[in-house]
Amino acid sequence: MSEWGTASLYSLKHLGFCRSRLREFLTGLGQSVVLVVAVVSAQPAQAEKITIACAAVGIEYQLCREAAQAWAKEAGHDVQLVQTPASATERLALFQQLLASQSSDIDVFQIDVIWPGLLGRFFIDMSIYFTSQELELHFESMINRFYVNDELKAIPWYADVGLLYYRKDLLEKHGRDVPDTWSELAEAAGAIVEGERKATRHRLVGFVFQGKAYEGLTCNALEWLASYGAEQFLKPDGAVDLENSRAVEALHTAASWIGDVAPRGVLNYAEEEARGVFQSGNAVFMRNWPYAWALVNGSESPVKGNVGITSLPQGSENGIGRGTLGGGGLAVSIYSKNPKLAADLVRYLTSKKEQIRRAIDGAFNPTIPSAYEDRRLLAAQPVMQKFLPMLSAGVGRPARLAGDKYNQLSAIFWNSVHDTLSGQQNARNSLADAQKQISRLMRDR
Ligand code: GLC
Repeated sequence: MSEWGTASLYSLKHLGFCRSRLREFLTGLGQSVVLVVAVVSAQPAQAEKITIACAAVGIEYQLCREAAQAWAKEAGHDVQLVQTPASATERLALFQQLLASQSSDIDVFQIDVIWPGLLGRFFIDMSIYFTSQELELHFESMINRFYVNDELKAIPWYADVGLLYYRKDLLEKHGRDVPDTWSELAEAAGAIVEGERKATRHRLVGFVFQGKAYEGLTCNALEWLASYGAEQFLKPDGAVDLENSRAVEALHTAASWIGDVAPRGVLNYAEEEARGVFQSGNAVFMRNWPYAWALVNGSESPVKGNVGITSLPQGSENGIGRGTLGGGGLAVSIYSKNPKLAADLVRYLTSKKEQIRRAIDGAFNPTIPSAYEDRRLLAAQPVMQKFLPMLSAGVGRPARLAGDKYNQLSAIFWNSVHDTLSGQQNARNSLADAQKQISRLMRDR
């Protein structure tokens, strides 16, 4: 086992996991779990300890630690942080394992907007600890995503939407407009890469996105489908509509990018791999979430000041270029020994003040509309104004409809899409297969 693998094992064991189950679990994930535990400042004698598991994409963990530290200091308690895998899919697997073991070691979980149906039974109803006035501060659509059977399973923390990032300087230099359609993007990317490679920029690629077989690929592929007018493939009655010419064309188009405008490596890229390539100056276009904005413009970033963002391109005339909606919330475990205090930490982290800080430092979109009017935020991140309309026009995932089957549904979809991108199956056949498998899954509910 690698060094960090051993460290992860230690940390999980520390959290009450038995060694054999852990080994099995880590092996199942290809040992790609990185789990770091940090205890933040002990306080007075009767101080209690709350443990929070935060995500770790970009500077998420750092932002979580800073705020948790501030809460610990203010509340006079201790806080312990658990860092989780960057991949949403691996994080879900870890949380499922931890919660199934009924361990009380983690009090607060950062959950994805698509997980309430999958994990909701492990979380308390937050409306016990939050007043309706507090809840009304958030976008209603965000609050609604966290309800399961009339119980509020998490408090919204940030809202996400897929975006197109582009290199302003390269587009300008090569006389190209910001693309409105995928074919314009592919054409501009091809021409810019060719021109720049002649000028010895051998590592430049046209377009990077999340093409690895995980939840991020589902997000990307739903955007391609929507851009061709093939949205909402799961119908309220459980019927599945993937085997249609618009979806086929969308997927066929995306597959044509691989090895051409997009490097084959994207088949293994999640958010951070795509950002790494783009931020080091080696890609003309990137699909990513807003968090990347703060980082590509960070003081150390080689592309700082040369990046623009816009809505994702349109496919056909029937389609609209829209980003998939994402985001996260904070939930309290039913196994927590101190749910009231845990909810207090959640209140602090999801407060308007803290959401504004996360927006300024990390470009995380607040879930509280009035935060967008904050003068300091507007001055520091004027781009936030651009995100708002994109958020309201975003593409949803069928998480509520699929309920506790969502991850299985999504896995069928992302695997079929991945097979097409990697050239193992054509778009029509893989979508037909996905349609069959998802229909079966929905029938067996
Ligand atoms: C982002 C989104 C989340 C999505 C994930 C996929 O974290 O906020 O909703 O599921 O990316 O990788």
